[in-house]
Amino acid sequence: MAKIIDGKTISQQIKDELKEKVAALKAEGTEIALAVIQVGTDPASTVYVGNKKKACEYVGIRSESYELPEETTQEELLQLIDTLNHKDSVYGILVQLPLPEHIQEDMVIRAIAPEKDVDGFHPQSVGALSIGQKGFVSCTPAGIIQLLKRSGVEIEGKECVVIGRSNIVGKPMALLLLRENGTVTVTHSKTKDLRSVCKRADILVVAIGKPKMIDASYVKEGAVVIDVGVHRNENRKLCGDVDFESVEPIASAITPVPGGVGPMTIAMLMYNCVQAVEIRKG
Ligand code: GUN
Repeated sequence: MAKIIDGKTISQQIKDELKEKVAALKAEGTEIALAVIQVGTDPASTVYVGNKKKACEYVGIRSESYELPEETTQEELLQLIDTLNHKDSVYGILVQLPLPEHIQEDMVIRAIAPEKDVDGFHPQSVGALSIGQKGFVSCTPAGIIQLLKRSGVEIEGKECVVIGRSNIVGKPMALLLLRENGTVTVTHSKTKDLRSVCKRADILVVAIGKPKMIDASYVKEGAVVIDVGVHRNENRKLCGDVDFESVEPIASAITPVPGGVGPMTIAMLMYNCVQAVEIRKG
């Protein structure tokens, strides 16, 4: 029987800690605002953006909402970002992804001032992480490190295997585990004999994007398993990339879906907004 790593409770703890910090900053005269930009009306994005605004309200961060029509041009979006880059009251800028096809995501990410890049997607933030300098860290992998630390999982010296090499999760995850002195292997769709590589892992982070793909045959007895996937199964129920029923009996700890990694992403976005005050000070 694995210990269930409870992302709901841990994310709530983090938000409560941040709420106190935000109140203290307010008392010193610093009010944090996050600009949240959504282009178009993708229903999933609308839900995510709504949850981000709700979290802001909870911790005492002012959210400034920019809901732009689907037809917004890249030029118009870049113009708005430029205005927000120069607006002192705005500490963080978040552009919800994905963007409509006529807008180049990388151009938009690059346009955000690195000191306001609370998503941690700007090449400068990614570069800082890779050479161990201070900067914003992508929220989902940063949240996974918090889940591990706050659940008493030691990373130092452990065999860590990450499945997936996306810019948002897999790559920064590998860098963060390395920063914690883990021995890190990154696997992907071209990895040969994925099963036996995964079976080496003391800590297995799964961000593969395929529902329930990782069953017990990929997992070493006693491993810690972190599931980044979110899918709806045939009965519209949420499930992850890990086959929970198969893996839970042999893992020592595991994150559920929902209620594992998911809630941590928004908590870490709030963390980055508070961090933005420090980063602005230099
Ligand atoms: N779309 C899905 N996840 C994210 C995220 O973490 N940040 C942004 N900006 N867009 C997303």
